[in-house]
Amino acid sequence: MPNTVLENISLKPFNTFGIEVNAKYFVSVNSVEGLKSVLKLKEYPEKFILGGGSNMLLTKDIEALVIHLDLKNIEIVSKTENTVNVKIAAGENWHDFVLWSLKHDFGGIENLSLIPGNVGAAPIQNIGAYGVELKDVFVECEALHINSLKIKTLTKEDCNFDYRNSVFKQDIKGEYIILNVTLNLTSKNHKLKTSYGAISEELNKLNIKNPTIQDVSKVVIAIRESKLPNPKVIGNSGSFFKNPIISKSHFDILKNNFPEIPSYTVSENEIKIPAGWLIEHLGFKGKRFGNYGVHKKQALVLVNYDDAKGEDIFKLAQLIQSTVKRIFDINLEVEVNII
Ligand code: EPU
Repeated sequence: MPNTVLENISLKPFNTFGIEVNAKYFVSVNSVEGLKSVLKLKEYPEKFILGGGSNMLLTKDIEALVIHLDLKNIEIVSKTENTVNVKIAAGENWHDFVLWSLKHDFGGIENLSLIPGNVGAAPIQNIGAYGVELKDVFVECEALHINSLKIKTLTKEDCNFDYRNSVFKQDIKGEYIILNVTLNLTSKNHKLKTSYGAISEELNKLNIKNPTIQDVSKVVIAIRESKLPNPKVIGNSGSFFKNPIISKSHFDILKNNFPEIPSYTVSENEIKIPAGWLIEHLGFKGKRFGNYGVHKKQALVLVNYDDAKGEDIFKLAQLIQSTVKRIFDINLEVEVNII
């Protein structure tokens, strides 16, 4: 079946912010061969790769050919006594895959429950939540080099993972399309990570003494649902900014002026500050500007209540950045891709 290129397609259903912009040209591909043939189309020199649309803010119509990656497959590729390697195609929904793993009693990603988006995007920003990051279970991924159409395997080392960062956002940005990801999960003797404050609190509340991976997933889902807006109800892209890392000397000055500022030590001279606290402290939390604003339960999340324009949300983000800079002398980095 040749891939059909459609014209003037609304991207509203394809981005979790729910922003109404159009793709001048749009094609969905469900095989690697199909993807390659679409990439070869000379009549559309500019291409735009669309995965789950959960980490981007669309501020304008897209003139390029939008390629919607719909690659699906989940396969157990190898086993040891206590672990399995599972290879997941890029177009699988991340949370559906987490549920699949829990059903098979495979552990390691239960803390990453309910993260929106597709599997193919997970390595790009090294998704993380409640003390676990993708890199903790990552083995390798296969990626298609857009110019040569050659497939390359990237190991964990090749990916250069860091906090919300990887080689895909740095040295090889825009050069590859991730086709699949292989993760190493436990099939026995699961190693639970419940030290993140809210998880142990929630388990205690439910009186769960020896939690299973399914229990951990359940409480992570409950915590996320209590703080983060469901993108199906209120458009959003999760954390809009990264938590900034500042020097110890900078932190000491801030601590003097704002004794209640929360912090996590990253290294001897590096301190991570929750951006949500900075934004809340400036009075932005819960602020609504017509049809968009700052989420009322988590200040790190910007929301589209109804038909907001991406540019307006971007302007709000810039206002937050400049205010944080003025008051705290901190540069807040945007986590979401602004298109
Ligand atoms: N805080 C506030 N006000 C707020 C929000 C947060 O003061 O409105 C302070 C509180 O001190 C709170 C601390 O920030 O204790 C941490 O808050 P939370 O546990 O909600 O986590 P976060 O640092 O704001 C990060 C990730 C989230 C992830 C959670 C849990 C980033 C940019 N965000 O948020 O990831 O779910 O930790 O691990 O690192 C995402 O990336 O889209 C995302 C939701």
